[in-house]
This record gives sequence, structure tokens and C-alpha cells, in this order.
Amino acid sequence: MSKYNKLAGKHVLCIGGTKGLGRGTAEASIEAGARVTIAGSSQRSADAAVAEIKALYPSAAIAGFGCDLSQDTVEADLEGLFDKAGGDVDHVVFTAADALTISGLQDLTPDVIRRAGHMRQVVPMMVGKVAARRLPRSRESSLTLSTGGIADQPRAGWSLMAYVANGIVALTRNLALDLAPVRVNAVEPGFVDTELWKDLAPQAKADMMQAIADSVPTGAVGRVEDVAEAYVYLMKDRNATGEIVKTRSGAQLV
Ligand SMILES: NC(=O)c1ccc[n+]([C@@H]2O[C@H](COP(=O)([O-])OP(=O)(O)OC[C@H]3O[C@@H](n4cnc5c(N)ncnc54)[C@H](OP(=O)(O)O)[C@@H]3O)[C@@H](O)[C@H]2O)c1
Repeated sequence: MSKYNKLAGKHVLCIGGTKGLGRGTAEASIEAGARVTIAGSSQRSADAAVAEIKALYPSAAIAGFGCDLSQDTVEADLEGLFDKAGGDVDHVVFTAADALTISGLQDLTPDVIRRAGHMRQVVPMMVGKVAARRLPRSRESSLTLSTGGIADQPRAGWSLMAYVANGIVALTRNLALDLAPVRVNAVEPGFVDTELWKDLAPQAKADMMQAIADSVPTGAVGRVEDVAEAYVYLMKDRNATGEIVKTRSGAQLV
């Protein structure tokens, strides 16, 4: 076994691995010699992502499953996903997310808050609960959640997203005790050009990404292949638990 290539031969389950940061983490894990299972909201999107990944990495050990996490059956749905993955998962990476809720405070209603909270509060907690039963009880195993730069940097109109992003930070730290010795960490990305922004009109999205690029020290929004390294790192470092790894173009400095 390699001293440093700790993902070789491991089984990584990327929930939200069909697109964006989860997809990047799946590809990086394959490059590191891991067996990978990805999950998306439907079998169709999982099959499409597996085909694309296979085209890039023909010898990859990869499987993909649909697992719609938007329902109140989420705990049973996650159990079913672990069953399909084969029951020998070493690392779970959770990046599944629906559209952001960015609106004026006066547009928020209890229903809007509850709906936004499902994927960003209910589901991560259930992922922690099911992972606690399914992962080997070892510091060799890990769960990595996703939060966002809004946890540290308030923005007008983002109160709800700041609320849930900080909830993930708190959840990560507490799950690190609940799941110990399994490690629990989170990645805090800044802006990354992924499908998360697909609801924006193309020009509005391009303008937003350019404005961010112009304002940050790196001169660029995050790229999936860079931010995915944070997820890989947290799987590999057996000394890291309860940590929030930040990768955000230096946006915190300006
Ligand atoms: N991108 C950014 O700028 C940014 C910044 C800060 C924080 N983050 C956070 O980083 C995480 C990953 O974001 P991303 O940019 O990678 O997002 P993304 O590209 O939009 O990918 C989202 C993933 O979630 C899955 N998903 C959506 N609805 C689902 C459902 N009902 N059930 C199961 N899976 C579902 C999608 O699967 P399908 O494609 O199969 O539907 C897809 O794989 C999120 O927590 C996000 O809030 C992102």
C-alpha cells in the first residue's frame, strides 16, 4: 500500500457526483486509484455521467445510481443507495444541492425557508445518520459535507443561505464527535462555475462570474478541478476531523 496515495483501492461514494464539485471529486478519486460510486437525482443523469467519465477514464471502476433526495423518505432512500453501492463504502462525499434561494428578506416565507432547508439541513443530517451506520468505524473512513463562502461573508439578500451554510459548519463539527472515529469535515468553496448557477440567464451568469473574477486576488472564480482537491485532501488526511477547508479565490481578503 502506498504511504501517500491513500485513496488507492478505496471505495468513494459521491452523493451529487453527476455534476460540479462532486463530479470533479469522483474524477480525482478515479485518478487516485479509487473505486467510485456516484449518485444523482435520477438514474438517467447518473448513467449519462458514468458514460462521460468512462469516456475519459476507460478502465475506471465506476457505477452510478439515481437517488432523489428531495422526498421525506430520504433516510430509506439513502439506505437503498448504500445497498446499491455494495455495502463497502470507505468515504462519503456529499455535494448534492438544488438551486440556491437568493431573495430579499421580505420575499422569505416559512414555506420558502422549509423548502430551502430540505436539501441543506434535512438531507445532510440524514446523510450523517446513515453514514454513521454504514461506514467502517475507523479514522480511515470519512464523510465530507459542503458549505459555502457565505458562511463567513454576509451578503445582502443571502440571509437564508448564510443561515444554512453556517448550519452545515456546526453540523460538521458535531457529527465529527457523533461519528468518531470516522472523520467528518466540510469544504467551503467560494464561487465556482458549475451547474449550480444554471437558473441564471447566460449573460447574467457570465457578468456575475466576471465581476467576481475582477474582484478576487486570484483573478478567477474557482475551477472544479482545483476545488475538488479539498475533498480529496479531507478523505486522505487521517488527522483531520471537524475541519472546514476553505478554497475561495482569496475572496475573504477583499
Ligand atoms: N458552485 C459554487 O459556486 C458553490 C459555491 C459555494 C458552495 N457550493 C456548494 O457546493 C456544493 C456542490 O455544488 P455544485 O456547484 O457542485 O452543484 P451542481 O453542479 O449544481 O451539482 C449538484 C448535484 O446535486 C445533485 N442533486 C440535485 N438535486 C438532487 C436531488 N433532489 N437528489 C439527489 N441529488 C440531487 C445533482 O444531480 P443531478 O444532476 O443528477 O440532478 C448534481 O449532481 C453545494 O452544496 C453548493 O451549495 C457551491
